[in-house]
Amino acid sequence: MSTLKLGNIGSLVTYDSSIKKMVSYKNIEIVINDDKVIDIGENLDNADSFIDCKQKLVTPGFVDCHTHPVFLDSREDEFHMRVSGGLSYEEISNNGGGISNSIKGVKNASESLLISKVKSRMDKFLFLGTTTVECKSGYGLDTKTELKSLRVIDEVNKQHKIDMIPTFMGAHDFPKEFINDKNSYVDLICDEMIPQVASQGIAKFNDVFCEKGYFSLSQSERILNVGRKYGLYPRMHADEFHDSSASKLAADLKVASADHLMKINCTGIEALASSGVIGTLLPGTTFFLGKHKYAPYKELEKNGVHIAIATDYNPGSCSIQSMPFIIMLSCIYFHMNILEAIKSSTYIAAKSLMMENEIGSIERGKKADILVWNLSRVEEIPYFIDSQPLNLILKNGKSIFTA
Ligand code: NIG
Ligand code: FE
Repeated sequence: MSTLKLGNIGSLVTYDSSIKKMVSYKNIEIVINDDKVIDIGENLDNADSFIDCKQKLVTPGFVDCHTHPVFLDSREDEFHMRVSGGLSYEEISNNGGGISNSIKGVKNASESLLISKVKSRMDKFLFLGTTTVECKSGYGLDTKTELKSLRVIDEVNKQHKIDMIPTFMGAHDFPKEFINDKNSYVDLICDEMIPQVASQGIAKFNDVFCEKGYFSLSQSERILNVGRKYGLYPRMHADEFHDSSASKLAADLKVASADHLMKINCTGIEALASSGVIGTLLPGTTFFLGKHKYAPYKELEKNGVHIAIATDYNPGSCSIQSMPFIIMLSCIYFHMNILEAIKSSTYIAAKSLMMENEIGSIERGKKADILVWNLSRVEEIPYFIDSQPLNLILKNGKSIFTA
């Protein structure tokens, strides 16, 4: 094991859990031993090696806590049907597009082809500064293909330097064969998929698309409760396109995260606040779908809901993989303060994955997942958005990218 010191840091911006807030430290040094931060302070002893940060900004690596990366092909035709054909996401979905458009590809693709696709997506996430990424299955919708998707995540995670946190999402949509007998598909998820996913140990979370036209409140509740019995922690897609009181259910079930929330109502906001359930906002999806009504961040914040932000990277409703871009959208459309945006994309995102003791901030004992920017101030992140802003990415204390 060897030690590494990061010095000549312009400013270190991170959440500090001892004082429960974001901090910006000047004249600070960081010492790493192997894959962990072991010291932070001024004028620290020399280490085995040294990185000169040249007075630039240092932050934790981003934690993207909501993505759907296991698919075969992109769906740019649907993008153009929306922008020039005037169709909505829901209309395209009702006409055979949407999630079901991606199912055939994943069902027919070999595991090795999917592995290579997912691997190159992970390369891009890491290049953009995301050091941990939550990854959902959900383009299989049968037992075999859902298990295959989760095995793909598991295999890429073993091969890739990025950390991938797997989520089972058999409840992403209803397969065509079950369209007139939806409860039988819920039975299949509960009686067959969840037990097999759990026995193979290839998922941490269980997610449900609780939405008008997708999974009802009672179906969602059943799937999440069965998952919990099998050791899968619940999270939810809630109130994305319609207000269906899904956020209230998320609060009642104390899920790890209630995501999207574009159409959340007052009761839902109060319920999330009093239950302490994290709300994950996905402004990239609102933007990419050309919608104008963003999730009510200010209302959520005023009521004390803890907010994470993430990309929702998927082939249909958001092709964005860049967390700096999501930060820019959060600043513009949520009027989010920049320090809050960093906190939401690092510490709170880690919390939504139940990993805030390991990642999400630069603190003693945590993983050395660190970004050295080619920028001086955190305010520059959403401002200089269209070029690679990073000088160096350290993942588990090892340099994996240098500009
Ligand atoms: O989070 N909401 C459900 N799933 C995705 C869309 C997936 C797709 O269109 O392929 C989302 O927006
Ligand atoms: Fe999603």
